[in-house]
Amino acid sequence: MHIAFAASECAPFAKSGGLADVVGALPQELAKLGHEISVYIPFYPRVRRFIEGAPHYAVRSLTIPFRYYNRFVGVIDGGKRDGVRYYFIDCPEIFDRPDLYGPHGGEYSDNAERFGLFCRAVIEAAKILGVPQVFHVHDWQAALIPVYLRTVYATDPVLRSAATVLTIHNAAYQGKFPPNTIEQLLFPWDLFTLDKVEHFNRFNFLKGGLVFSDLLTTVSRKYAEEIQTPEFGEQLDGVLHRRAADLHGILNGVDYSRWNPAADTNLVACYTPRNPIGKRACRADLLRLFGLDQLPENTPVIGIVSRLVAQKGFDIVAQISEQIAERNLAVIVLGTGNSYFENFFRGWAFRHPDNVAARIRYDEGIAHKVEAGADLFLMPSRYEPCGLNQIYSLKYGTVPIVRATGGLDDTIEEWNAQKATGTGFKFAGCEPKDLLAAIDRALAAFHSPKEWPRLMRNGMERDYGWVNSAREYQAIYKEAARRRG
Ligand code: ADP
Ligand code: GLC
Repeated sequence: MHIAFAASECAPFAKSGGLADVVGALPQELAKLGHEISVYIPFYPRVRRFIEGAPHYAVRSLTIPFRYYNRFVGVIDGGKRDGVRYYFIDCPEIFDRPDLYGPHGGEYSDNAERFGLFCRAVIEAAKILGVPQVFHVHDWQAALIPVYLRTVYATDPVLRSAATVLTIHNAAYQGKFPPNTIEQLLFPWDLFTLDKVEHFNRFNFLKGGLVFSDLLTTVSRKYAEEIQTPEFGEQLDGVLHRRAADLHGILNGVDYSRWNPAADTNLVACYTPRNPIGKRACRADLLRLFGLDQLPENTPVIGIVSRLVAQKGFDIVAQISEQIAERNLAVIVLGTGNSYFENFFRGWAFRHPDNVAARIRYDEGIAHKVEAGADLFLMPSRYEPCGLNQIYSLKYGTVPIVRATGGLDDTIEEWNAQKATGTGFKFAGCEPKDLLAAIDRALAAFHSPKEWPRLMRNGMERDYGWVNSAREYQAIYKEAARRRG
């Protein structure tokens, strides 16, 4: 089949979180299954460094109309990598900016236009470069593709049989804009109703995608259930519940060619489950990097690599930060985001220079070093559609402590010392005392020479590669195409 991916992020070209990892890896796995895959993303300045010489245009100029003007868009041919064809939507006045979505974790004021343009440009480009059997669109930034296809482009014979699959990576980010966005993006006003794109008197991109896509997926089974409830549905639970029969939870895989301690070029030493000795050198390297090299050998190190936003549950950590720091452990943090959380971590490190250290920045190389050098990995997320870092941690022998929600609950099994089963430590609810109890259980296991190596190995031997999930997506594409055909 020919599948076209459309998303606002794709590793290694442009990444702010796990969406990029998924859009970077799933297409390659599908290509291995024999499918023809194209991936469309915007041409941000950071994508430039992946192109040698002058950009080669697959399409010189597409006209994208808005209410009072047209914009002219090029499509850069990103070449074929690992069997996947990449196209970059080039519109300098819209995408030639330092941030993907806005400065300091905020939003550019014209994001409706930016991603509206992106969606329409992908459709126009596909008409020239090849209409796929399925458009697989990701999150709100690409969610207008199904809306355009079934409204503005409904009578276009070339596009009629193209099916659409929308994957929700995070239901909290919806792309909500003022009602007159309808006119600006040249949609008919009859779309602005409760059963279509209107949501509390806003034009809601994600809702439009949920209504108009043939099939819907999200990134874990548990999150697929959770988002149908008011607690997790971000006010879209009604729409999602109505489409429950078309909504599938498919767990994200991991790209083990990028995330594997046996062959990770970011590390000072490599290691495997059978020969984990190199992890010690990684730990020493990490502690040196974070200025904690005086830490005694038997002190457990808890790593955190995260976008610092409310979703990730660091407010629970903040409530007991002193109790945590008083324990015999160290905490190493790498993250950026919301200034409240950035300042909390800076302050925590300032108060406990001997065992808490934070780098408030985005750095992929250091992210790998934390995965490898830490003993434990903390993800206390209030909700987590899938979560990738806890799955990376398993592979790196870094035992996860997680809140039992979404993909965290689906991927981490509580350690059982009697049976020697399980891969980590979980807590339910949002009570700080429950998090502290999970940390204490983890510390007890860490200090048991009998338990710890086994617990590490259990995680390292788990396989969360893409193979099975790619097959599940393949079945979804076939079903979507069958319904359209
Ligand atoms: P989310 O997509 O909600 O941010 P995931 O766990 O799915 O959460 O994915 C996060 C991805 O982003 C991981 O690959 C992680 O390593 C990366 N990441 C997050 N923050 C940073 C950072 N400050 N530096 C480097 N990588 C980061
Ligand atoms: C989102 C979610 C995260 C998920 C990622 C990739 O950013 O917050 O849980 O792993 O998308 O699907």
